[in-house]
Amino acid sequence: MKRIATTFAALCLTATAATAEVAPTDVMFEDGAIAESLTGAAGNAENGRKIMTSKSLGNCVSCHAAEAYADVPFQGEVGPILDGAGSRWTEAELRGLVANPKMTFEGTIMPAFYKVDGFTRPGDAYTGKAAPADLPPLLSAAQIEDVVAYLMTLKDE
Ligand code: HEC
Repeated sequence: MKRIATTFAALCLTATAATAEVAPTDVMFEDGAIAESLTGAAGNAENGRKIMTSKSLGNCVSCHAAEAYADVPFQGEVGPILDGAGSRWTEAELRGLVANPKMTFEGTIMPAFYKVDGFTRPGDAYTGKAAPADLPPLLSAAQIEDVVAYLMTLKDE
């Protein structure tokens, strides 16, 4: 009987952990990195590739080229080439970099994708207008995890 109760409690804990999402305002950075998954789960790399290369989503491709997605047209050169990013950085560092690159590169023009207060959206850089604080982050917690999962597949050969 006691055994059953313990198993049930363990199941409840697992269910809670799987749905516990970290809000953009509660993200904990350590030297620019975020240790834990923002969703409590691993991301989907294939979906991450889609997010990075879609204009309406991450649009990382507008600033970053990569051999890994050489089939995608209109690759920008503003940021470094992302091939090998999964070897240069740890998963925690990449999560921090995508959520808020200013914690790693002070004064970078790369947008913070998981931040809600006082940041400038890519298009607003030209007008000097900061986005109002109540707008959602550019990417959701799940989308950040998908992007991190894809970046981790970009290993040096
Ligand atoms: C407006 C241009 C821009 C966009 C959009 C952008 N980045 Fe960046 N990114 C940069 C720049 C510039 C750097 C170099 C850091 C610095 O010195 O400012 C950088 C650095 C990085 C790095 C570290 C470089 C490395 O490989 O060693 C990663 C990883 C990265 N970006 C991922 C992303 C991802 C993922 C997205 C989309 C979700 C994205 N970036 C969108 C401009 C951009």
